[in-house]
Amino acid sequence: MPRFTGKVVLISGGARGQGAAEARMLVAEGAKVVLGDLLEKEGQALAEELGPAARFIRQDVTQEADWAAAVQLAEELGPLTGMVNNAGIYVPRTLMQTDAALFERHMRVNQLGCFLGMQAVVPAMERAGGGSIVNISSTAGLRGSPGALAYCGTKWALRGMTKAAAVDLAPRGIRVNSVHPGPIDTDMVKVWTNEQRAVRLSQIPIGRIGQADDVARAVLFLLSEDSAYMTGAELSVDGGASL
Ligand SMILES: NC(=O)c1ccc[n+]([C@@H]2O[C@H](COP(=O)([O-])OP(=O)(O)OC[C@H]3O[C@@H](n4cnc5c(N)ncnc54)[C@H](O)[C@@H]3O)[C@@H](O)[C@H]2O)c1
Repeated sequence: MPRFTGKVVLISGGARGQGAAEARMLVAEGAKVVLGDLLEKEGQALAEELGPAARFIRQDVTQEADWAAAVQLAEELGPLTGMVNNAGIYVPRTLMQTDAALFERHMRVNQLGCFLGMQAVVPAMERAGGGSIVNISSTAGLRGSPGALAYCGTKWALRGMTKAAAVDLAPRGIRVNSVHPGPIDTDMVKVWTNEQRAVRLSQIPIGRIGQADDVARAVLFLLSEDSAYMTGAELSVDGGASL
């Protein structure tokens, strides 16, 4: 039987990129998915492509009420056992180029969004008899990231929040792990010049930029019972870039 039959997974930032890849794989393995995102056109189109197993909801992860609505929608589909805190922004600036507003924007979307998301799903996962939360950090949460001070700070924060939540939530039957993608070919990295992309590529031992499916396979592992004894772990999916 497919690993996710009868299970519901909520994915923030699920309209495109890595979140969309996870949604496609989850549905192929029997799950129902709720895609939350600000991008209504892309999100609706993906939900239509995936059929009755998928629903889209317009969601801003910085808003508690939007999380409550997303969780409610998920529970209408069945027991909510999985959640991917995937929504994120990346506006790369060095320390001296970053102003307080840009710093705060990263904190609100990448960090506050993850905090609100974890908090929002706990009661539903308890009702479901347990669950798995996957927080999408980055190699920028494992080491310094060139010219991306605010982004890097929030991705390190996610790593710590994952471990603290893993300890808090284990008695409730909820596991929490972080995934650390290296450079992945999505819209997010279109800000790079060809030269910046070439530098990133030269730092990857496996010798290629990652694809969204590379990350999705790792996320499905952490959402599934295949990782039943893992919590608070950090899983790099980066072709060795963080070594
Ligand atoms: N692409 C990479 O190289 C890379 C590397 C490491 C980590 N990541 C992380 O992976 C995750 C997915 O990124 P991606 O590569 O698929 O890029 P992406 O830009 O395609 O996806 C991010 C999604 O988050 C959504 N989003 C942004 N702000 C939101 C908000 N306030 N509320 C709801 N949704 C919001 C966007 O609309 C978008 O659909 C992000 O957390 C990102 O930081 C990406």
